[in-house]
Amino acid sequence: MPKQRAERNRTITLTDKETSFYVSKCLTLQECRKQSALDKIIFADTFEVIPLLPHGVVDLLVVDPPYNLNKAFGNSTFKKMDESLYLEFTENWIISVKPLLKPNASIYVCCDWRSSLLIGAVLQKHFTVQNRITWQREKGRGASYNWKNSMEDIWFATVSAKKFTFNVDDVKMRRKVIAPYKVNGKPKDWHETKNGNFRDTFPSNFWDDISIPYWSMPENTDHPTQKPEKLMAKLILASSNKGDVVFDPFVGSGTSGIASIIENRRFIGAELSPEYHALAKERMEAAITGDIRYREDIPVIEPDLKMAVAKLPDEFLSARSMVNH
Ligand SMILES: C[S@@+](CC[C@H](N)C(=O)[O-])C[C@H]1O[C@@H](n2cnc3c(N)ncnc32)[C@H](O)[C@@H]1O
Repeated sequence: MPKQRAERNRTITLTDKETSFYVSKCLTLQECRKQSALDKIIFADTFEVIPLLPHGVVDLLVVDPPYNLNKAFGNSTFKKMDESLYLEFTENWIISVKPLLKPNASIYVCCDWRSSLLIGAVLQKHFTVQNRITWQREKGRGASYNWKNSMEDIWFATVSAKKFTFNVDDVKMRRKVIAPYKVNGKPKDWHETKNGNFRDTFPSNFWDDISIPYWSMPENTDHPTQKPEKLMAKLILASSNKGDVVFDPFVGSGTSGIASIIENRRFIGAELSPEYHALAKERMEAAITGDIRYREDIPVIEPDLKMAVAKLPDEFLSARSMVNH
C-alpha cells in the first residue's frame, strides 16, 4: 500500500516495478569485474566493490558513511557499534579506498559530532587534514536534556599536503554590500547591479545557507539521510575540475552522482540497498537527460539593520553610558 502523502509533498517515490526496472539497469559485482564502472553505481557491498576498481583514478572522494547510529537503510539496518568497532569499520574503508586516489586527490567525509571524533582521528593518520566544515543543517530532533543536534561536520583532507585542487572562485559567497566604498568613483571589490550591490566573498568553513531536503522540495526522496544537491555540488566545484573522477562508496539516493553529472564530472558509486540504488539511478538518469528537479534558490538572508539581533541590547547601552559618565 503506497504511503498517503500531503498535497504539497513532492518526495520522489518509485513503485516496486520501477525499483526492479532501475535495479535491473545497475552494474553488478560480476559486471564490474569485466567493464568500466565510470559513470555507474555498483549495486553491491562497497567492501567488495572497492578492490575491483582501478588504482590511482579518483580525483575526489566524497564519503557520507553510515554514522554510528541505529538506522534503517531500506531493508537493512546499520547497528550502532562499540566505538572500537566503528573505528575499525572507518579504518577499513579508508585503507581499502586509499590506493584508488590520485596523488593530488581530495577527500570529504560527512559525520555527526560523535562519529566525527573517531573519523577525524583516522583521517589524520592517513591524509593531511586541511579543515573541518560545520554544516548547520537546520532540522534536528529537539532534546529535553541536551542541546538539539542541528550541525554536521564535513572533514576536508588531501593526499598531498600541498598539491590539491581548490577552485575558490567557483564557491565564493555572494553577499550584499553594507558599506559600498568607492575608489575614484568605482566600486572597491564589489559589483553594482540593478538588483543591488554585491561582493563575492571567500567561503568560510561554516555553512548555514543550505538546508536538508524537505518533503516539499522536488529533490526529496524517502532516503533517511539524503544530503542536499547544493551541498555536494559545493564540494565538487571546490575540489575537482571538469572531467575529474568523483567516487562515493556509500551513494544512498545518489546525491553526489547527480551533482557530479550536473557539474560535468565523471562518477563511480556503490550502494547496497536496492531501493536507494534504484532512486539513485532514476535521479542520475534525470540529471543526464536534463529532467532533474531542483529546489528553488532561496535568496541569501540579507542583514536588516532594523532586526533585533542587529541592535545593541538596552543593558549594554546603559552600561556604556555609566562608563562614559
Ligand atoms: C548516510 S547514507 C548516504 C546518503 C547519501 N549521501 C544521499 O545523499 O542519499 C549511507 C548509505 O550507505 C549505504 N551502505 C551502508 N553500508 C554499505 C556497504 N557496506 N556498501 C554499500 N552501501 C552501504 C546505506 O544503504 C546508505 O544508503
